[in-house]
Amino acid sequence: MAVSAGGRLNGKVVLVTGAARGLGAAIATAAAVEGAHVMVTDLDAAGAEAVVRQLGSEGLSARATMLDVTDQDSVDAAVRATEDWHGRIDGLVNNAGLLIEADVVSLTEAQWDTVMDVNLKGAWRMTKAVVPVMLEVGSGSIVNISSLEGHFARPGHVAYAVSKAALLNLTRATAVDFGREGIRCNAICPGSVETDLLAQHFAATGDPEAAASDIIGRNRVGRLGRPEEIGATAVFFLSDEVGYLNGSYLIVDGGRGATT
Ligand SMILES: NC(=O)c1ccc[n+]([C@@H]2O[C@H](COP(=O)([O-])OP(=O)(O)OC[C@H]3O[C@@H](n4cnc5c(N)ncnc54)[C@H](O)[C@@H]3O)[C@@H](O)[C@H]2O)c1
Repeated sequence: MAVSAGGRLNGKVVLVTGAARGLGAAIATAAAVEGAHVMVTDLDAAGAEAVVRQLGSEGLSARATMLDVTDQDSVDAAVRATEDWHGRIDGLVNNAGLLIEADVVSLTEAQWDTVMDVNLKGAWRMTKAVVPVMLEVGSGSIVNISSLEGHFARPGHVAYAVSKAALLNLTRATAVDFGREGIRCNAICPGSVETDLLAQHFAATGDPEAAASDIIGRNRVGRLGRPEEIGATAVFFLSDEVGYLNGSYLIVDGGRGATT
């Protein structure tokens, strides 16, 4: 079925990382539906191609590129490919991320480094590569996908929670450094949204059904989040309608963080 574009991102060029599945795929889809040309990037090149095929079949504008956010050459190549495609980049969504389950004592240094390299340094590498492209046109919107765990920590999530908290300050630092030059940077802090990453976390508890019911019981909407709800939030931050929104974040968690 053809999806009609809403037009809120008409003609904008948006690069999304980690977009082969889950939240990234939903963000890429929401941006394309709103009229953006979307560069769908991921370590999983076949998955990114599949998302692009789906968007193309709906008459939407998207292209796929393999991208490993931990590899500077790969970052530079993806940014170049996006510029070659449409000559500019208006939106960057730093969504690629991973979770390693370990507490402060059991976490190894290699695990710490892996989580930081993808979740935090990956977003910095992408921002560093894309900001100069945005400066050429004097505008741009960067959206960092942090987490409710940027504010609070779940047991056994030390590296993940630290990386997501630091990402919030990368968001503020980017907003402060480049706001005057027309580049906004904001973050989304999702609660528990139905994706492979969440399924992996639930499985690691040893009782996935109990883990899901626990989360559902502690938010005020009575269900898990849906990827398209994060897609809609990303469109909000990417659009020119919210030009005064800079250095900020939005918690999208069904009210879990609002309860005592
Ligand atoms: N699902 C949730 O409940 C939830 C909650 C809060 C925050 N988040 C954050 O949202 C983002 C997306 O999560 P998700 O649930 O869709 O996860 P997911 O595991 O389903 O998807 C993550 C994607 O990132 C890609 N990726 C991993 N390492 C990469 C790398 N080095 N370079 C490029 N791509 C890479 C993977 O291939 C995958 O396609 C993550 O940053 C995650 O921390 C998710």
